[in-house]
Amino acid sequence: MDLHPRIEEAKQRFLEELRAASSKDLLAQIKNRFLTGKESVLRGLFSLLSKVPPDQKGEEGKTLNAFKSWVEIEIERVQVALGSAPLSAEDPTVPGKIPPLGRRHPVYRTWEDMVGIFARLGFDVAYGPEIEHEKNNFEALNIPLDHPSRDAFDTFYLERPWLLRSHTSPVQIRTMMRQKPPIRVVVPGKVFRPDKADASHLPMFHQVEGLMVGERVTFAHLKGMLLLFAESMFGAGTKVRFRPSFFPFTEPSAEVDISCILCGAKGCPACKGSGWMEILGSGMVHPKVFQMCGIDPEKYTGFAFGMGIERIAMLRHGVTDIRHFLENHFRFLEQF
Ligand code: DAH
Repeated sequence: MDLHPRIEEAKQRFLEELRAASSKDLLAQIKNRFLTGKESVLRGLFSLLSKVPPDQKGEEGKTLNAFKSWVEIEIERVQVALGSAPLSAEDPTVPGKIPPLGRRHPVYRTWEDMVGIFARLGFDVAYGPEIEHEKNNFEALNIPLDHPSRDAFDTFYLERPWLLRSHTSPVQIRTMMRQKPPIRVVVPGKVFRPDKADASHLPMFHQVEGLMVGERVTFAHLKGMLLLFAESMFGAGTKVRFRPSFFPFTEPSAEVDISCILCGAKGCPACKGSGWMEILGSGMVHPKVFQMCGIDPEKYTGFAFGMGIERIAMLRHGVTDIRHFLENHFRFLEQF
């Protein structure tokens, strides 16, 4: 006896009925009729095995077992489909599922808040490429060849002269090459340095650069803008402090601190007892930088600043390890 035509016939019938199975009840009936019932089609087929000649029993048995597995899988597939997509015939009043809502990342919220403050102070927003030319990242910013930041240990070089920008300052150059004063621009974006990740370093982080150029722009304007920024960002009463510093592209240069937002400048572990927290670098645009961009340093002056976005986000939210921003743990991210 040859079982194949019977299996083929059972298969066609099964498929036909399965296609019509529009509810779990109907599916259960099919399962019973073909697979699990006392007089199921498969039981019938298996009982026919005794009539198969001994030398063909092995082959036929295998075919029959394969058919049985296939029936089981098909039933399960339809069961899942019916379960996860209830047919409208069943109950159209069942409420829909609400997918969990995402939210903006705390770093981008801070990015937008920072840019928003400067936008209200009249600054335009500009962007530059993350892959930069050495000229824009270093030379035009008056950063000499032997400056440590140009070292391969401090910059991701692609194929020279291309590199992953190590700061947003090259967009100062791009802006001044394209546009003549008056200029008021902020530049948010990603920057890259081959630093090992630790509590305060990441090989990729974000900065906001600022640049204002015009006739008679002075250090007093820089101080005023940054004080307004600090008060908007961290609350009224926040103080700023300028410490003399050095950057090749500004002269004079200053590092800027805000009064500790945790202890109100009394001194606590967060500010290491000093009452102050460093937030940015700044200064008056170096005449050489103006010259390299074709702007007359006798006629125009300007200020620039650059600050890390993660750093500001950490201060305002009391985050003590910068790596939290990249770990993608919802329990961390859902707090913002
Ligand atoms: N580019 C500097 C850095 O990444 C930060 C900086 C300092 C930017 C002084 C400025 C500036 O525009 O005037 O460390």
